[in-house]
Amino acid sequence: MAARITASVYTSHVPAIGAALDLGKSQEPYWQPLFRGYDFSRQWLQDNRPDVIFLVYNDHATAFSLEMIPTFAIGCAASFAPADEGWGPRPVPTVQGHPELASHIAQSVIQQDFDLTIVNKMDVDHGLTVPLSLMCGQPSAWPCPVIPFAVNVVQYPVPSGRRCFQLGQAIARAVRSFDTDLKVQIWGTGGMSHQLQGARAGLINAEFDQRFLDRLITEPAGLAEMPHIDYVREAGSEGIELVMWLIARGAMSDVGDPPHAAPPVVRHRFYHVPASNTAVGHLILENA
Ligand code: DHB
Ligand code: FE
Repeated sequence: MAARITASVYTSHVPAIGAALDLGKSQEPYWQPLFRGYDFSRQWLQDNRPDVIFLVYNDHATAFSLEMIPTFAIGCAASFAPADEGWGPRPVPTVQGHPELASHIAQSVIQQDFDLTIVNKMDVDHGLTVPLSLMCGQPSAWPCPVIPFAVNVVQYPVPSGRRCFQLGQAIARAVRSFDTDLKVQIWGTGGMSHQLQGARAGLINAEFDQRFLDRLITEPAGLAEMPHIDYVREAGSEGIELVMWLIARGAMSDVGDPPHAAPPVVRHRFYHVPASNTAVGHLILENA
């Protein structure tokens, strides 16, 4: 039996969430409602444990400085250390990779005409470790191997929603052609509305965020046509992180031409403001 994508998970990656957990503050009044929104998700992940997580995230000038910025980078290493983001590395487990599946996906996706950067050594920042913490809590080891997939949403030009959506479809084809029985989850992370700088710093747009969640579920192909300027105007300069969710959504089985499955099942949906400067959104979609 071949590998298959069983579900997709979407979540914001606010670094202060990681700090709240690491410093034992998750039950404080400010943080408790946020973490409560992930209680279901931690249980769900235990009950639906994948063999591999393909984790789409963005690096924040941590592994890649502004001297070198790949648009799409796939982590093919056997392990990835939590990065030092200025306060020392987070006290979380080292991320174990899956070099065989990662190299297969690189091979397949590059032959489908997406130019991926192959990365054999890299540290991973809050963009990757905070989603893992939200979904897994504080385990002594992460529940399965993780393939980090870094997307440039920091330095323009960044990839379009349409390109991300098509890339997700290519990743799904790559997974389906891996000749080992593996359950793979794809996670799309970052977002939702937030702006960390300039005159509009602190911007939150709950109406836009909820509509983004609605459309991601029911009409992702239409959502993928939304231009960058709409993300930035409506969701703030860092709201552009949301294009990464379209990679995960594009990898679901109802997408494609023609679609080969029914729409996914919405297992969980959560939205919360405030968390630091960011609106936190979260979805779990299972393939039908
Ligand atoms: C915050 C959000 C981010 O996405 C990030 O990368 C850094 C900080 C924040 O809300 O504070
Ligand atoms: Fe970010």
